[in-house]
Amino acid sequence: MDKLLIRGGRRLAGEVTVSGAKNAALPDLCAALLTAQPVLLRNVPRLQDVATTLKLLRNMGAHAERSESRPDEVTIDAGDVGKPEAPYDLVKTMRASILVLGPLLARFGEARVSLPGGCAIGSRPVDQHIKGLQAMGAEITVEHGYILAKARRLKGARITTDMVTVTGTENLLMAASLADGETVLENAAQEPEITDLAEMLIAMGARIEGHGTSKIRVQGVERLHAPANGHRIIPDRIECGTFLCAVAAAGGEVLLKNARADHLDAVVDKLLEAGVKIESGADWIRVAASGRPKAVGFRTSEYPAFPTDMQAQFMALNCIADGTAKVTETIFENRFMHVNELMRLGAHIEVDGHTAVVQGVPQLSGATVMATDLRASASLVIAGLVAEGETVVDRIYHLDRGYDRMEEKLRAVGADIERIQ
Ligand code: UD1
Repeated sequence: MDKLLIRGGRRLAGEVTVSGAKNAALPDLCAALLTAQPVLLRNVPRLQDVATTLKLLRNMGAHAERSESRPDEVTIDAGDVGKPEAPYDLVKTMRASILVLGPLLARFGEARVSLPGGCAIGSRPVDQHIKGLQAMGAEITVEHGYILAKARRLKGARITTDMVTVTGTENLLMAASLADGETVLENAAQEPEITDLAEMLIAMGARIEGHGTSKIRVQGVERLHAPANGHRIIPDRIECGTFLCAVAAAGGEVLLKNARADHLDAVVDKLLEAGVKIESGADWIRVAASGRPKAVGFRTSEYPAFPTDMQAQFMALNCIADGTAKVTETIFENRFMHVNELMRLGAHIEVDGHTAVVQGVPQLSGATVMATDLRASASLVIAGLVAEGETVVDRIYHLDRGYDRMEEKLRAVGADIERIQ
């Protein structure tokens, strides 16, 4: 199993190009199921989760290939899908596989999708996806661990989800695009990835208004087509935020290219509060830091507030900050698994329920630590970059699920980091 070996203490300097967003690529790939025409996606990150999605689409009979000459381009041709189903073996490795449910049901009138299993960061049910599709007239049963869904044609409906759910909103948005009549999604997620998906669907002929707000209106159409010029996936705001925290922790100056500061307002504000220097333009961010940052407390919440997917990385920064910070996680019930590992590196953290109090220390010391989930892995890498001596991060398959060649990008800006067996 691969590990990362990091020798801490190097400042970071140079340029990093941010990849396409994982959480936009996954729904966008699934949206290709909504048409029989071949769909071209650009700026597709090279990630394990993308590879799993391509496998899932091929398993149904779609052709899904990455271009050899342009590795950031993927074409999906769902003209020949014969088996509208997502098997347990694939779904268990990636919860976002549930994103095929809405498009399969809308286009083929049926779907068989395994229920996602337990997940390290909380129970994460999919009841809202099911409730929304039922409101649109689908008959849904759960048998032998599979969701079986049927509908001759989905009907538009007014749907208010009990909580804000990102993939839930995406599933319903895709289903509503091909439904009969108007769907109104209330309490919709407002993440940039929702807007990205909506813009792709609009380019495919969907009639959608209000994306990016909590109320989305969709007038269903009979048929969708491929976007005329393909669709370019937005930059990954979480990868970008992770590099911002890495530079803030390790010190140095880095220019992030293909980066959208307007998707990261809450994180940028907190970094400025910590004393980090940040400048930005339409598609770049320059970050500079020296000395210890100031400790900064925050509370995760739905977009546009501070993202739960940045909680662990910002906590790593607080571990070496000057002062004490309170971090509250409101989205997932069990998302502090990085805390024990950070403490193995010398951090002082106390957890009480959904809140962690981090008392900054002047120096961490390298050790062997275990990655427990995707963003936890990234926080351990950041901690390793500033810890004195060697840090080995084990189980980095979690990191490979969601970061495009992270160690290569860090090495290019001066980090001493290598992948070992
Ligand atoms: C998405 C992101 C993930 C991010 C999360 C929150 C993707 C592929 N993943 O995950 O990186 O951390 O948003 O920003 O985009 N819930 C229910 N019932 C449901 C759906 C959700 O109870 O049917 C709960 C969840 O358990 C959680 C909360 O709602 O507590 C938010 O979850 P949700 O927004 O659905 O997360 P994902 O879409 O899975």
